[in-house]
Amino acid sequence: MDKNVVVFGGSGFLGSHVCDKLMESGYNVTVFDKNESKFIKGKHNIVIGDILSEEKVGKAVENANIVFITVGTPSRRIEDEADLSAIWDVSHELAKNIKNYCVIVTKSTVPVGTTKKIKKIIETKISSENFGVVSNPEFLREGSAINDFMRPDRVVIGTESKKSEKLMRDLYRPLNLIETPIVSTTIETSEVIKYASNSFLATKIGFINQVADLCEAVGANVQDVAKGMGIDKRIGAKFLHAGPGFGGSCFPKDVKAFAATAKKFNINFSILDAVKSSNEKRPQMIVKKILDTKKFDSNSSIALLGLSFKPNTDDIRDSTSLKIASILQENNIKVNCYDPVAMVNAQQHNKTLNFFDSVYDACEGVNAIIIGTEWNEFRALNFTKIKEKIKDAIIFDLRNIYRPSELEELGFLYYGIGK
Ligand code: UGA
Repeated sequence: MDKNVVVFGGSGFLGSHVCDKLMESGYNVTVFDKNESKFIKGKHNIVIGDILSEEKVGKAVENANIVFITVGTPSRRIEDEADLSAIWDVSHELAKNIKNYCVIVTKSTVPVGTTKKIKKIIETKISSENFGVVSNPEFLREGSAINDFMRPDRVVIGTESKKSEKLMRDLYRPLNLIETPIVSTTIETSEVIKYASNSFLATKIGFINQVADLCEAVGANVQDVAKGMGIDKRIGAKFLHAGPGFGGSCFPKDVKAFAATAKKFNINFSILDAVKSSNEKRPQMIVKKILDTKKFDSNSSIALLGLSFKPNTDDIRDSTSLKIASILQENNIKVNCYDPVAMVNAQQHNKTLNFFDSVYDACEGVNAIIIGTEWNEFRALNFTKIKEKIKDAIIFDLRNIYRPSELEELGFLYYGIGK
């Protein structure tokens, strides 16, 4: 098989990992994207700029055997549906430029029916014998993408022809070596697998978070409950860490979009509505708990450690820490922030927070500390040093990274989640 691949949206987080892997496997990769990102800099045959006006698209698509679509599908502002405008732009571009047989693969998270709509758009100009469409969702996590890419639990390939399926299986042949299961299915099923997987993981988190609330009320410990549940192989231990709620660029958006699809087809998917609304209310609820422990006034300040939506990324999209910071500010409390890598992004998001260069500087004179993100750097802090700097020795460990007794022995008032 010739080895020419074009990736639309290849400069994003998902696209750049797809490109890296394909390059490693010997493919010639051309990337079209509206902007160059830190992920892709200097790595691929990149054409940056408005993809619709690029002459080079024609040439690259003409010679391509496979075209990947990895553009973003953010939530629309008003409705909860995914915004697919970037997908339609690429589809029109492909309709103009396909000359030789190629397979169009959607890797972006797209609602069920989208891949077939891409096919319809291309079919207005190109005979369906000259191209195939495939749904091949990705399950990468930010911060551990390389491992997830090299050792996926499964590869899902949704096709409607043997020819497309064979091409995709050839593409993933290197994974045979580590015996990765390949789930071959229809296009619609593959699209649903992606949303159902993310929504299920989000549901697990939403569930354990409400179990945590119950644990607090009855004097139980959610970490031990999660351990006791997770050993049961039918439940599994992962994604049972209670905390301030899930964030990031995927779960909140995908739960909303999956619920919107259900609504469109008149399906009662009330579980998803509950997961979405409980998660949206969680930052407010956490702040209420914090404010209930002590009287904070307009002279009070709190140190917030960790701003990214999870560790090992500078991504602050839908970060619960930043939501909590804003709610504290609405209550006239000053917020001193520190994060190992997400400070620049956080500063752009909310300039009115106070930013510090270290945990210890951020803790100077504060009335409480919140651990918002479980960075490794926060797991072994020098609390004797912190105690000398802070005004009130209170800690809200929203990620349960410390044992209460460790800090209580040092004279701190400790509040975790669900214990
Ligand atoms: C998620 C999925 O895990 C990936 O499989 C998927 O490919 C990706 O979305 C996507 O659709 O692109 P990601 O958003 O990078 O990956 O982050 P996760 O590690 O899943 O964490 C999401 C949120 O859940 C974070 O805010 C995290 O703090 C929270 N979380 C996670 C918990 O509160 N508790 C847990 O036990 C696990």
